[in-house]
Formats: sequence, structure tokens, C-alpha cells
Amino acid sequence: MNAYEHKIQLNLAETCVDPFTLREFFALVEEEDFFKKLKEKKLTYGFIEGSPNLRKGIANLYNNAKTQNVLVTRGAIDANFLVFYSIVEPGDTVISIFPSYQQLYSVPKSFGAKVKLLKLREEDQWLPDVEELTRLVDDKTKLIVLNNPHNPTGSLIETSLLRKICKITEDAGAFLLCDESYRGLYVKPKDSVPSALDLSKKAVVTGSLSKAFSLTGLRLGWIAANEEIVDDCMLHRDYTTISGNMITDAIASLALKHVARIYRRNLKIIRTNHRILSQWIDGEPLIEWVPPRAGSTAFLRYNLHTPSVDLSRRLIKEQGVFVVPGSCFEMEKFLRIGYGCKTRTMKNGLSRFKNFLHHSTTAH
Ligand SMILES: Cc1ncc(COP(=O)(O)O)c(C=O)c1O
Repeated sequence: MNAYEHKIQLNLAETCVDPFTLREFFALVEEEDFFKKLKEKKLTYGFIEGSPNLRKGIANLYNNAKTQNVLVTRGAIDANFLVFYSIVEPGDTVISIFPSYQQLYSVPKSFGAKVKLLKLREEDQWLPDVEELTRLVDDKTKLIVLNNPHNPTGSLIETSLLRKICKITEDAGAFLLCDESYRGLYVKPKDSVPSALDLSKKAVVTGSLSKAFSLTGLRLGWIAANEEIVDDCMLHRDYTTISGNMITDAIASLALKHVARIYRRNLKIIRTNHRILSQWIDGEPLIEWVPPRAGSTAFLRYNLHTPSVDLSRRLIKEQGVFVVPGSCFEMEKFLRIGYGCKTRTMKNGLSRFKNFLHHSTTAH
């Protein structure tokens, strides 16, 4: 991402739903006095754990959370790291789904845990197998790690399966870290799954304004959990963070007042783009997928012999289109496409991708 995302013509690698410009965001939320008030803000240290307003706004995203159950962080990446840093000790077992956002299995390993991978399979619709999970649990299991909705596949763990995983976690005396960065981005309007936080006292969830809220540049995420865990994370966080960014905190608080408007905008984007991608795949014999049910990413299997990183590089060079090679997820013969981008980017990117697959001498 680092090498290409800022130079590329058509970015289909992005996971965030089309990030707002500040102008677009303020037009959507219609809060005219905001900048007048912001100018009077004294730029001292902000609230250490996030302002009460912001924490309350985040707590409202859950059924049973209060302000004290929320700790604000610099994105979900910081939130996940802090959870691992606070909970995992050398010798613990951590069970993490695979493939997934690499942080979710590499960081616990770096803290000395034995990490067991719970492999998701295409034939299971990329959903965790509970029997396999039960087999992986041992008496040192401290943490089970999920990402729901799932990057890169877009699979969605529904309520009944999520309840089963919560029960396995509780029986093991472990915690469940559920990275819910893509929460709320359902392709079908009838789909809706509760946060793991509302299903188990052992759940620690992380969230973000980067993906479903399109405010990536604010770098704002959070941990939501029982108070004991939040206090423990606060204690560990004191080594790296004094307080959050006051300006970010103020804009984020505003976003959380207007959750419904933001979701309305973003669901329209992902549902339109999902339809376009779906039609494209129907007409594309070299590509197969398990259609994503939630989130903003799809994991495409391609029927060519070319390694995924070569395919991605050639697609960039010959067509100016950027997709993530499956090798980044240690999965060959796959490509990840993000469908949260602007619809015209999606259409142009797919049309050039089709050209590449059918006319390029190097694709094969
Ligand atoms: C599953 C998952 N967790 C966390 C992150 C980090 O997001 P943030 O921008 O909130 O730090 C990402 C970003 O791609 C992600 O896909």
C-alpha cells in the first residue's frame, strides 16, 4: 500500500469507504458553529482516555456499554496493539483466524505467545469452524482473535455462530478480541449482527472511524470492553500516549452524533459497487469468489498460473490499476479488491482489469 497507493491512477486496493474531504463531511453534518468554537479551544493536553462526549458517542454504538467501557486510540491498529500488549504474556496461547489482517496474529507472537491459526476456508464461506476452534483450545489459551466483518474476504459471522464462539471462549476462561473495524457495512439491508461486546463479558472489541465512517485521516479508533480491561489498557497506554489529539476528538465527536447519515451515504456506495463487481465477476471466466456479505473487501480467486504479486505489479504497470496480491495474506491465487471506492473508480478499474486479463500477453 505504501509503495503505490498515493501514485496510482485507479486504486482498487483501498479498504476504507471513500474517505470524506473536510468540506464533504461538514456539508453532511451541517454543524455551522463548529469551527467558531474550535478556534477558542486551548491546545493543551486533551482528555487522556478521550473526551466524555466522544466516549459516550462510541458507547452508544453498543447496547450495554457506558463511557467507562471505552478507551480512545489512534485507529484500530493502535487499539489491537494495546489489547495484545495489555493481555498477552509469554507462554500464553492465542488463537487467531487466518487469513486476516496480519497484525492479528503477528503481534501476539511478538509478545511471546504461541499463536495457533484457525484457518478459514473458501468452501466454508470463509467462516470459522467451531469444532476446529474447540480442538485448538488448550489450558493456556488466553485470547481468541476474530475480525468481523472480515478483511480480506468480506465474510460475516452471524449471531448464532458468534454466540458459539463466545461460549467456547468463556469455557476456556479466555478473552475474545473481535476487531470490528468494518462493523455495519452490510451488503444486504436485512443483515445485522450484534457486536461481540453485547454477547459476552469476555469480549474485547476494537472499532474505528477509518472504514465505515470514512474519516481515515483522523486516525481514530477505540477499545470497548469491561472496565477492568479498559483500566488495564489505560495503564499500558501510559507508556506511549499522553492524550489523544483534541482536534481529532472534536471532529470524531461530531461524526458520532451523525452516525445514521454517514451510514446512509456509505451503504449506498458499497451496495452499488458490490453490484457492479458482482456483474463483472459473472462475466469473467477467469475469476471466482465467495460473494462478500459485509465490509468493503472481496477476495477473488483467479485461474491463471501467474503469482499474485507479479499479476498485481503488471496490472499497475500496464493499466494503472492497483489491487492487493493474495501473497500479502500468504494466500496465492487470490487478489483483494476494495469496493468502498468511488463508483467511477470501480467501473474504470474493472474495465481496465478486464482488458488486462483478456488482451495482455503478460497476464498469462
Ligand atoms: C481488520 C483491520 N483492523 C484494523 C485496521 C487498521 O485500521 P485503522 O485505520 O483504524 O487503524 C485495518 C486496516 O486496514 C483492518 O483491515
